[in-house]
Amino acid sequence: MDYECITTRIEGDKVAIITLNRPKQLNALNNQLMDELGHALQAFDADSAIGCMVITGSEKAFAAGADITAMATLTFAEAYRGDFITRNWETIRSVRKPVIAAVSGFALGGGCELAMMCDFIIASDTAKFGQPEIKLGVIPGAGGTQRLPRAVGKAKAMDMALTGRMMDAVEAERAGLVSRVVPYDKLMDEVLGAALMICGFSQIATMATKETVNRAFESGLSDGLMFERRLFHALFATADQKEGMDAFVNKRRAEFRNA
Ligand code: HXC
Repeated sequence: MDYECITTRIEGDKVAIITLNRPKQLNALNNQLMDELGHALQAFDADSAIGCMVITGSEKAFAAGADITAMATLTFAEAYRGDFITRNWETIRSVRKPVIAAVSGFALGGGCELAMMCDFIIASDTAKFGQPEIKLGVIPGAGGTQRLPRAVGKAKAMDMALTGRMMDAVEAERAGLVSRVVPYDKLMDEVLGAALMICGFSQIATMATKETVNRAFESGLSDGLMFERRLFHALFATADQKEGMDAFVNKRRAEFRNA
């Protein structure tokens, strides 16, 4: 598939970098971009050579939200029937390998929601996060009202969603929305370092980690703990567990085979 709204490249033979590429619209998200993003993520997820994916934007914008021009005149019937813009977000959520968001500049509305759908966010010190939909007479539509309070707590989530104010990178890190903040010129090095580190571990274990941590948001504590325990025990059926633990015991470097 030829992409128009994204570009893709592979780094270090293992990390897939997907760059949102609608610079004139500050990477505003439309159906085509979301379809391309879903297609690329699924293809990399299915590619056994790839261990981790990164979604990024430009220096000025990760994504400034859903494309307001594309939705300004939509009727309810059109938005509902066409499942406007959110129609393939479940596809993105179904990706099983780790996905890192590398955010610089604006991550607003659907852009903030897309970043939050990634497994963690590494931000440049210029990043700005927000859910400004209230200013447009609507509400967040791709998980913002659910993921933001889980990430930063009710008080900050309500503040941001009700006032539409932006949170800078320092506040976002303090609040737990992002895991690391680095200067813009170090952003991709930092992200690539994290991605390559993930790729060096057992792919089965990194996928199981993602699946299990995500359970923390989708089940009660007892169910989540039981899910974790079952998967923890299951990993003893893998060659990578034998390799990882034998390497530790014998003071050598582990060579994982993803088996
Ligand atoms: C369409 C957009 C856009 C958007 C920016 N542009 N955001 N076009 N949809 N969401 C366009 C502008 O119209 C402009 O085009 C160009 O990008 C540059 O933007 P400027 O406004 O000139 O830049 P600046 O002054 O630096 O301001 C940046 C900004 C502002 C603060 C990010 O653009 C802004 O407030 N954008 C809207 C943010 C927003 O409301 N997002 C939430 C959308 S609703 P021209 O042609 O004039 O140069 C949403 C719902 C999600 O996301 C639902 C589920 C996914």
